[in-house]
Amino acid sequence: MELGLVTLLRAAWIAVTLPIIVASIPSSKLSSFHQLASRFANRGKTMQQSSYKFTVPQRFFSHFYVVAVVWTTLLLLTTWLYAYRMAPLSSESFHFSHLASLLTGGSHIFSFQKSHLRPLEHRYRVWRIVLLLLLLEAQVVRRLFETFYVSNYSPSARLHIFAYLTGLFYYIAAPLSLCCTCAPEVFKFTLNLVSEFIVKGKNKMPAIEIDWWESVNTLTKLGWRQWIGTAIFLWGWIHQFRCHAILGSMGAHAEQVDDYVIPSGDWFDIVSSPHYLAEIVIYAGLVVASGGGDLTIWLLFAFVVANLAFAAAETHNWYLRKFENYPRNRFAIIPFVY
Ligand SMILES: NC(=O)c1ccc[n+]([C@@H]2O[C@H](COP(=O)([O-])OP(=O)(O)OC[C@H]3O[C@@H](n4cnc5c(N)ncnc54)[C@H](OP(=O)(O)O)[C@@H]3O)[C@@H](O)[C@H]2O)c1
Repeated sequence: MELGLVTLLRAAWIAVTLPIIVASIPSSKLSSFHQLASRFANRGKTMQQSSYKFTVPQRFFSHFYVVAVVWTTLLLLTTWLYAYRMAPLSSESFHFSHLASLLTGGSHIFSFQKSHLRPLEHRYRVWRIVLLLLLLEAQVVRRLFETFYVSNYSPSARLHIFAYLTGLFYYIAAPLSLCCTCAPEVFKFTLNLVSEFIVKGKNKMPAIEIDWWESVNTLTKLGWRQWIGTAIFLWGWIHQFRCHAILGSMGAHAEQVDDYVIPSGDWFDIVSSPHYLAEIVIYAGLVVASGGGDLTIWLLFAFVVANLAFAAAETHNWYLRKFENYPRNRFAIIPFVY
């Protein structure tokens, strides 16, 4: 099952990334493919009114984050519980977990004691995944908050139904990609807990006690890659929040609905889509924090870069067409490169 899930996710990321890369190749032979891709990908200001067929309101972006928060929270809590019970890193928690199981008469049918024999590297991998899910949780919760309280979606802004479905797919597949190497065992563990609950009943279930402080302590001891990855993630996270606040406040500067102004401040002074750049920084942080050895996470990152670079190029060209005085020294998304 593990291999099946991993293969499926990798195939899915390749399948959604390749068309975007092909559409981004600057060749006249591919112009009709580029136009088709733009038709699906453009939204809000970059979408032409003639493409309004098969669209949904752009404020439906909030649906992505509702799905993302529910799904990521579920994966985070079950993986965390699994890590705490089955993959302890400190000897105290190992003994606590073992003792608790003996005292509560941990049954052989339901207990996973054999998992304690797993190699240390495996246990580190499980805790690294807890950290990745925790970081993604911080991202999607903030995005949910922003879609409700920071972003200022114009009533006429639309999103193609294809982009809407891709967004829903993305927020199911992205959290799963971060934890796919241990998701099957976490799933089995959760299923066992639920079965135990059904068979024994609530009163006979051993209390699930998590020492949160010890868990956080474990996360801080994972290694230097996790520290650097978390720092990169937070750097992108803070800048994206600032850039979204700038965009959200721009409705107030516009003279009428659907009127746009040239944004400035924070990373807007260097690139046209700094919030996309920040998203790339955020996911780069996740790649580093993962240790860099998981191909599925690299493929997820490749999709994020390809997708946002394509959208940023469309946005940049839109700014150049719309504003004669648009700062010529601004790049589309990657400073001094693109
Ligand atoms: N991980 C991924 O693959 C992925 C994919 C897509 C998006 N995202 C993230 O989601 C966030 C939002 O993306 P998005 O595509 O919705 O961003 P966006 O198209 O730039 O729009 C964000 C909001 O700002 C408004 N806005 C943009 N430029 C403006 C201007 N010059 N004047 C006034 N208002 C302006 C937009 O209005 P209009 O709608 O009228 O343009 C919209 O309400 C981004 O940070 C992005 O990184 C991630």
